Amino acid sequence: MARNNVLVAFFSRTGNTRVIADFIHEKLGCDIFEIKPVDPYPKDYDATVDRARRELDSDFRPELVEDIDDSGSYDTVFVGYPCWWGTMPMAVFTFLEAHNLSGKKVVPFCTHEGSALGHSVVDIKKLCPESTILEGLAIKGSTVNAAQGEVHDWLSKVGIITS
Ligand SMILES: Cc1cc2nc3c(=O)[nH]c(=O)nc-3n(C[C@H](O)[C@H](O)[C@H](O)COP(=O)(O)O)c2cc1C
Repeated sequence: MARNNVLVAFFSRTGNTRVIADFIHEKLGCDIFEIKPVDPYPKDYDATVDRARRELDSDFRPELVEDIDDSGSYDTVFVGYPCWWGTMPMAVFTFLEAHNLSGKKVVPFCTHEGSALGHSVVDIKKLCPESTILEGLAIKGSTVNAAQGEVHDWLSKVGIITS
């Protein structure tokens, strides 16, 4: 059954987080939204790492390309991102600050290369103090294509699906 009240919002630079976002989107038949900065990150890894560090250190909020029409119509918002410097890319901070998710369920998921969720969930709690933050999922970036079962089990564990 399609879930009109659920949104999957995600940021992905190299596609790993997109794979997980697509799994959730297909499983739930819900809306999906890509968080994209106006100024895209470079293809070069080191240049991206440097820029991400500068943005984190200056608490920068990158401007986003487009916005969702009406976050008020959702009661559950999945937020997906790669772990960057132990937290979310700053574009995800921009997204979360732009929307009032009070009273909604916020469901974090990330891909990473060892830090898992890092301190991202603590950061989400600060940005969304009036939301119910469900247990997050962390998937190693190199294993995303085999993670469908893990995603299913997590959706069931946090009560999004019943089977
Ligand atoms: C700027 C930058 C910072 C990163 N910082 C971390 C980190 O702190 N911990 C970690 O486990 N992985 C880190 N990674 C690896 C990514 O989280 C990982 O490759 C992720 O799966 C990429 O997702 P994507 O393909 O959706 O962009 C970093 C990658 C980049 C580009």
